[in-house]
Order: sequence, then C-alpha cells, then structure tokens
Amino acid sequence: MSKTAPPKTDPTVIAIVSQKGGSGKTTLAVHLGTRAAQSKHESCIIDLDPQATAAAWSDWRGDFLPVVVTAPPARLTRTIESAKKNGVDFVVIDTPPHADAAAREAIKAADIVLIPTKPRAFDLAALEPIADLVGFAKTPAFVVLNAVPSGATVLAEEARKVAGGMGLEICPVEIGDRAAFHRSSAKGETAAEIDPSGKAAEEIEALWKWLKKTLKKQKK
Ligand SMILES: Nc1ncnc2c1ncn2[C@@H]1O[C@H](COP(=O)(O)OP(=O)(O)OP(=O)(O)O)[C@@H](O)[C@H]1O
Ligand SMILES: [Mg+2]
Repeated sequence: MSKTAPPKTDPTVIAIVSQKGGSGKTTLAVHLGTRAAQSKHESCIIDLDPQATAAAWSDWRGDFLPVVVTAPPARLTRTIESAKKNGVDFVVIDTPPHADAAAREAIKAADIVLIPTKPRAFDLAALEPIADLVGFAKTPAFVVLNAVPSGATVLAEEARKVAGGMGLEICPVEIGDRAAFHRSSAKGETAAEIDPSGKAAEEIEALWKWLKKTLKKQKK
C-alpha cells in the first residue's frame, strides 16, 4: 500500500492588479514576493503578464529566490495547485494592465487584492473597472498609493477620497517616488538589497507588516 503525503494547506494568495500601465504592479510583486521568501515562506510569483516583466526580473536575478513562473490566465488555478504540491505557501500574482481576464482570474483566486495607483487624476479614474471586479468577486481589496511625490500630502488625501468614493479600501502605507525601486528592479534586485536603510526599503517593510496583520485579521 502506498503512503499518501499529508494534505498541504492552501497557500496565501495576493493578487496585484490595476487597469493602468506603469502603476507599480510588478514592482510591488517582486518586492513582496522577495520579502515573503526572506521571511522563510516558500514564496512564488506567478506572472500572468504576456510582457513577462517579473519573469525577466527573475532572469536578471539568477538563482536567488523567489521563484517566478509565467502562466496564461486560464492556467492560474492549476499553477497555484502545482505550486502548493511543491510546498509553496505564499503566492503573489502579477497581472498585465487592463481589467481583463487576467485581472478577473487573479482576483477570483486571491485572499487579498492590492491595487497600486499613482495619486494622479487619470490613474484614479482608472480604478473604476477594478472596483467593479473586486466588488463582484467580493475579494478584500486595498488601493496602495504608489510613487507618491515627496510632500504631496494634499494629492494623496484627494486620492484617498476618490478611491473611498468608489467603495475601495485604502492601505494606510504609502510608497514614495523613490529611485531605489527603479535602480534595483533593473538589476533583478529589491530596494532593500541595494539600500537596506533607505526609505524605499522602510516602506516595503511597513507594507509587508501591514499585509501580514491584515491577512491574520481576515483569517479570524
Ligand atoms: N514607487 C516608485 N518609485 C519610483 N519608481 C517606481 C515606483 N514604482 C514603480 N516605479 C517604476 O515605474 C516603472 C513602472 O513600474 P512597474 O513595471 O512596476 O509597473 P506595472 O504596473 O507593472 O507596469 P505594466 O502595467 O506595464 O506591467 C518602472 O520603471 C518602475 O521601476
Ligand atoms: Mg508589470
């Protein structure tokens, strides 16, 4: 008689979506995926974007964690299943811009959705279709203000009001406009890896802590 392996618990799944190109989806995906791996999670980034930017970041990174795999949206559920069989307990899904099939599948599979958004009028207007998708799926979702210029308190406050008006929750951690994100990603690294005591590293740490706390609350 063959022994069956004990059942594994479902991985925590974070989906990063936004209608707008360049809002910071891949940046957040690689930073959170890496932070999870450093926290002794078996972490995996699933890249649903045909541009495969997270996968390219992983190629530049070489053999270092986290693992990044590409998948078409229709294979997302199976890809998560197979990650689970391989011991993965933390999945970050990076998606292409547009509220299309990839965003829909990612939102459906996720425990929590993060929506990076620059605090600018056009970017905020583009939240509407994503707000509809998360509302329909009833997946908890949070707007993360990204690339916020320094001193832009009023801009950020207005952005919070617009997102709140669409029924979206707002993550209390804001990510500033920081060169370390751009410089590190271009080398297959993270902001904390090139500048551990910098502001960008500090913000990702705060975002990670908030994420863990929010997931814990959700499980209760
Ligand atoms: N907080 C930030 N500060 C400075 N630069 C940033 C920040 N976030 C992202 N960037 C830079 O902005 C550009 C776009 O970011 P990113 O690729 O993460 O966006 P995206 O939403 O994944 O784009 P796409 O929709 O094309 O996939 C990149 O050059 C990235 O390094
Ligand atoms: Mg991207």
